[in-house]
Amino acid sequence: SCRPVQGFCFPLLTLSGRRPYASEVDQIGSKAVLITGCDSGFGFSLAKGFLSSADKGEAGSQELDNMKSERMRTLQLNVCSSQEMERAVEHLGASLKDPQKGLWGLVNNAGISTFGEVEFTSMETYKEVAEVNLWGTIRTTKAFLPLIRRAKGRVVNISSMMGRMGSPARSSYCITKFGVEAFSDCLRYEMRPQGVKVCLVEPGNFIGATNLYTPERIKAIAEKMWKELPETVRKDYGRQYLDEQITKMESYCNSGSPDTSPVINSITHALTSPSPYTRYHPMDYYWWLRVQIMTHLPAAVSDRIYIY
Ligand SMILES: NC(=O)c1ccc[n+]([C@@H]2O[C@H](COP(=O)([O-])OP(=O)(O)OC[C@H]3O[C@@H](n4cnc5c(N)ncnc54)[C@H](OP(=O)(O)O)[C@@H]3O)[C@@H](O)[C@H]2O)c1
Repeated sequence: SCRPVQGFCFPLLTLSGRRPYASEVDQIGSKAVLITGCDSGFGFSLAKGFLSSADKGEAGSQELDNMKSERMRTLQLNVCSSQEMERAVEHLGASLKDPQKGLWGLVNNAGISTFGEVEFTSMETYKEVAEVNLWGTIRTTKAFLPLIRRAKGRVVNISSMMGRMGSPARSSYCITKFGVEAFSDCLRYEMRPQGVKVCLVEPGNFIGATNLYTPERIKAIAEKMWKELPETVRKDYGRQYLDEQITKMESYCNSGSPDTSPVINSITHALTSPSPYTRYHPMDYYWWLRVQIMTHLPAAVSDRIYIY
């Protein structure tokens, strides 16, 4: 029971005009890039950015669907559906100018998120989030890898800072992003001899600028969780505990950075630089420092600083 059909975008990149990290950008000419989850958030901005730089801004301000451009195709794809995936591969193969040259880039961006302590999270919720974020990423990668390999292209996986460090009440999301990290590392090792580069982008908190959470969604998640809780858990924790969690989640979401350009610049660099980084960390200084401390210091120290 994952979300139904989703946006899926297929812009053709022409690297003309001003681009981030311009001095490092390779002149790759006109190549195809596929981005999952283009209806909103990072995926939408990325597709729009590519199109507007390719078309010198004429079409960039319109909605993707209204962008009547030779360089952009959008199609529906639920990354949880193998059937839809097969159709998308066929469709894309038929749309490529020269299928023998393959597909240059795949950006696995489609994702969903939720919150709730382990005791508050149902098995269905764990599976639902993993179905999109982890199995969806793996399904899409496997489907398009033959084309990417032919082009000696790039796979760019959108993970999260939550793919590097755990967080209370975020286990259903963290496990999927840790999974994406492990998958990307293994794929990178395997693909190096094939000339394919695999990059991870680990954004910090940009929730205010995307559709990942809205205040209404936080409330809806909490109410559903409360209704479905086992009686013992509901009684032991009490409603006040849940209300405090809602407030914490709301303040986390409100504290996010409103400007997604660091994320878009990172993905663009990963797709276009002759020597892309393995990991990108677009996030503000607070989260950057927290990730460094959580991943480099002994848990006895980092847990004391940030968790307890
Ligand atoms: N925003 C942040 O602070 C943040 C931080 C770290 C990582 N991320 C990651 O960044 C990625 C993009 O998220 P976002 O923040 O831009 O959120 P968003 O605005 O909600 O975008 C997510 C996109 O994924 C699509 N999607 C969801 N389920 C799908 C499915 N089954 N098949 C295909 N597409 C699906 C959504 O389509 P619909 O809207 O049509 O459902 C939407 O277009 C996610 O992987 C997320 O985990 C975000």
